[in-house]
Amino acid sequence: MAQHDSSARPTQRLSPGVDVSGGVVEVLGPSRGAKSLDEVRVFRLDQPIVITIDGPAGTGKSTVAHRLARRLGLDILDTGSMYRTAAAIAIDSKIELDQHKRLLEVVRASHMTFNWKAQPPEIIAFGKSYARRIREPDVTAVVSQYAGVRELRDLLVGMQREIAKDHPRIVSEGRDQGSIVFPNAQVKIYLDASADVRARRRSEQLKREQNVDTDVNKLRAEIEARDANDKSRPFGALVCPKDAAVVDTSDLDLDQVIDRLYEIVREKARV
Ligand code: DC
Repeated sequence: MAQHDSSARPTQRLSPGVDVSGGVVEVLGPSRGAKSLDEVRVFRLDQPIVITIDGPAGTGKSTVAHRLARRLGLDILDTGSMYRTAAAIAIDSKIELDQHKRLLEVVRASHMTFNWKAQPPEIIAFGKSYARRIREPDVTAVVSQYAGVRELRDLLVGMQREIAKDHPRIVSEGRDQGSIVFPNAQVKIYLDASADVRARRRSEQLKREQNVDTDVNKLRAEIEARDANDKSRPFGALVCPKDAAVVDTSDLDLDQVIDRLYEIVREKARV
């Protein structure tokens, strides 16, 4: 981190964000203890860094991971979209859940990859975008079952590690990123929230996006059942890594979560 030298005040007021050298510019205002609004420091994250974000569904993981990556100027890897794409391929190619060999062959043949020029990066298979397809209800309904197929997990975990070699400054989001995929990640975060809050958020989202009224108690029961299933799965189970910082988002809004994570990254990455 480079501290601003007050004798060399910038002629132009800087705004927070990623600067041309890949550092993250922070403008410190009086509310953060700075003497004047022009105090600037650059939070330099130009070294390779892997930040993992894991946790159950409904904690806002994906939104949080994207926002954090943008704020820090890092790439983002949404590993759930890879499992979703594999499930979409299985449905579209009529591959049953127990046809592991066929599943692997077709997923391999699809040359699953990301278009890193898109923001956020867009998942591609068979040379076309799967970004929309993977959000359709038939995929959402079955993806967790396909995500339990060990051979598929092995393949996708290998791909995730390769991606991190090409994108060494990355926020990687999923269920097993800190525990299995990147056990040596410099920063591991585990997002959590109570089942009550997650059910309420899901219900609000369904109302907002699909104008559907839901029974929050039923949603909570489904969430609890899925948590139990995710945590007891023999492969790629959802676990909180021992060295992860746990952030409970139940009583925090999105900005508060991002601020908290940003501070954790600063502390852990010692910048
Ligand atoms: O986060 P999501 O809803 O897009 O994830 C889709 C499915 O994939 C979900 O059932 C959890 C599973 N998943 C997984 O098992 N491991 C990951 N690293 C990411 C997602």
